[in-house]
Amino acid sequence: MEKWTRVKYHPNLPLRENGVKVTASKEHIDISKNAAKEGMVLIKNEKNTLPLSRGKKVALFGKATIDYVKGGGGSGDVTVPYVTNLAQGFKALEDQVALFEDSVSFYDDYVSKLYKEGKQPGLLAEPEVPAELLTKAKAFTDTAIVSFSRYSGEGWDRKADNDDGRKHKDVVQELVDETDKLFEKGDFYLSKAEENLVNTISENFEHTIVVLNIGGMFDVSWIKSNEKIDSALIAWQGGMEGGLATAELLCGLGNPSGKLSDTFARNLSDYPGTEHFHDSDDYVEYEEDIYVGYRYFETIKGAAEKVVYPFGYGLSYTDFNISRVKVSEDDGVVTVKATVTNVGNYAGKEVVQVYFSAPQGKLGKPERVLIGFKKTAELLPGQSQKVVIKFSVDEMASYDDLGKIKKSAYVLEKGKYKFFIGASVRSAKKAETEYVLEEDKIVCELTEKMAPVALKKRLLADGSYEMLEQGDASKYNENVLKDMPLEDVLLPTPKVRAEGARCCFKPSEKPQLIDVYTGKMTLDEFINALSDEDLAWLVGGQPNVGVANTFGYGNNSEYGIPNVMTADGPAGLRIQPQVGVKTTAFPCSTLLACTWDPEVTEKVGIAGGEEVKENNIGAWLTPAMNIHRSPLCGRNFEYYSEDPYLTGKMAAGMVRGIQSNRVAATIKHFALNNKETNRKDSDSRASERAIREIYLKGFEIVVKEAQPWSIMTSYNIINGRRASENEDMINGILRGEWGFDGMVTTDWWTNGENYKECKAGNDMKMGCGYPDRILAALEKGAITREELGKAARNILTLILRID
Ligand code: BGC
Repeated sequence: MEKWTRVKYHPNLPLRENGVKVTASKEHIDISKNAAKEGMVLIKNEKNTLPLSRGKKVALFGKATIDYVKGGGGSGDVTVPYVTNLAQGFKALEDQVALFEDSVSFYDDYVSKLYKEGKQPGLLAEPEVPAELLTKAKAFTDTAIVSFSRYSGEGWDRKADNDDGRKHKDVVQELVDETDKLFEKGDFYLSKAEENLVNTISENFEHTIVVLNIGGMFDVSWIKSNEKIDSALIAWQGGMEGGLATAELLCGLGNPSGKLSDTFARNLSDYPGTEHFHDSDDYVEYEEDIYVGYRYFETIKGAAEKVVYPFGYGLSYTDFNISRVKVSEDDGVVTVKATVTNVGNYAGKEVVQVYFSAPQGKLGKPERVLIGFKKTAELLPGQSQKVVIKFSVDEMASYDDLGKIKKSAYVLEKGKYKFFIGASVRSAKKAETEYVLEEDKIVCELTEKMAPVALKKRLLADGSYEMLEQGDASKYNENVLKDMPLEDVLLPTPKVRAEGARCCFKPSEKPQLIDVYTGKMTLDEFINALSDEDLAWLVGGQPNVGVANTFGYGNNSEYGIPNVMTADGPAGLRIQPQVGVKTTAFPCSTLLACTWDPEVTEKVGIAGGEEVKENNIGAWLTPAMNIHRSPLCGRNFEYYSEDPYLTGKMAAGMVRGIQSNRVAATIKHFALNNKETNRKDSDSRASERAIREIYLKGFEIVVKEAQPWSIMTSYNIINGRRASENEDMINGILRGEWGFDGMVTTDWWTNGENYKECKAGNDMKMGCGYPDRILAALEKGAITREELGKAARNILTLILRID
């Protein structure tokens, strides 16, 4: 097919031969279902209640039986042809289980009525179970499955215990009000009605199984402590076939192999990132520093007891032995070898996890840091597999931001480095072999970047706080356009340039971009031929065509630059419902992370990327990979984990998969976008060490390992400077230190100033650019043609990479 046929002409062209489409095809929906089964986490299974034996009679309780949440809301949502809820999932397995129909009808009537009234899935009150229904169900079976669902979305955060009446700007207030009505203490906990339900059921049935249809961390202490609850599966928001995937796993058609990608603690307040989360609309102080997630719980005195289920934890219907563990080091590379044996009765998969602890030294270190993992193939009972995990010694270095050893350098402090191998952060056993360093070693010298200007203190490994000097914010230049009024429109759409027709291709005397592709001219020669005005238009978003709703890149037909469309989002290609094109909804990213298998994200990336391509979109705004700093972030379901290494590895798989279709992946939101409330103007205040070791690390892994063609900066401010205008982060770290050679885009309608963003290395301003402001800044000398040319180069390189 001729270059850019897809992005230039509409309507869409089926991807497979003979006019066969892949969008929402059975093939892709199966990939979604299989991914869902790989990431669901079995957290409890007493009395061998699961898997359900063939022919078992079961009764389903909880409105989530019908009110199934496939994924979260906002740009991470997907328009699907159908969603299979839990009841439908079980009904499809009639030859496996006998369902108590009356409870299904009861919840179906209740939920359908509320949906008709316009209620959002996941935000319905739990109804009381009528006494007769309960009596009838007990007569039918001794086994009940109780499910609970949760919904959250873009633009709003979850509620904290002590957070009364959040009336923040930039929050979807109706949804906040709705959740506030349902969940007194916030939706991290069961509501009173849900608590009553689970107590009633567990009192009345011999076997109670709990299913959690959730997008992020949740209180599960009641599951662990209630002896009458036999089993529990965290089924996550499993995409469009989540109900069927859950039912299949519970029936033993498959064996759970997911492992938690976050620590599940007892209380919301147990997570250090929660304490000041809602204190201010204007800033968040990341005082816990690098002690995020298990790094906090496994290190800080007294925190370990707060954990209900640790990071990396997850059961199977079978048991595994991890034996013959050998650790060796050669020429700066550590090799861990282990043998995994299935010693139980079902076929299944295990994840071998490798953690290290570095000497406390002068900087202080977490007691455990994930440095490698490997999921086995499916092992039959009695079968073994050898796994080999390698990493370099230098990867264990810490960033010294205060010069305790060497300022602005990654250092390995002298002493003993210990390794822990096992199937969760808690159960991992210390290996005999240690790596001993006699002298401190400077691994890599850098320069100070993104240093805090208003963070007062940070947590240290011994639980005390270190006071920090306040930096100097005055170095950030004034906006030379501050007197030039911004158009007074809330969300402007991209404009079409008056002269020079857009969106259609006409004969032109001008150089054509295809000539760069075919090698007739260089990209620099091409860019030199563009006028200042052409450049000013090129660095901003372009109008939608075809099925797109998030605008395009390029669009200068005189020069043969196609208008390449973008589309969301992490759970599947997002096309607006009114367009009529339905796509596959994959499981939420938290579930994908719990697969601990980058091959799964790669498969999802390939399938999602195919749908993107088939619908003539050139750039997919996925994967989203911010850190789960606190359970409160409303978009955690779109992100992978509290751990940057796992995040980076899973996102790298996704990027490889997407880009194998020659469409662009867009890793986002770069960076420290860990809160939705007032997301466009909230300042994330963090130390340079936490920024580098936690919040940028996942991005660094993906950039170096999978070379994404594009990255999206976030809305928020970081240490006083907008992410999109952050020269240190974009030109400095991303391009300078990591060698990123792709295009940087803003998030959609940031509050940043277009010319300042461009100067900082942020090539593209979305949803629309501000050519007048760019030209005004050019005239004032605040930005140079050369700087605009660089942005143009990155934008055109992205377009040239696309099929
Ligand atoms: C979101 C991005 C999304 C973009 C385009 C923004 O509001 O933060 O994640 O890709 O909109 O829809």
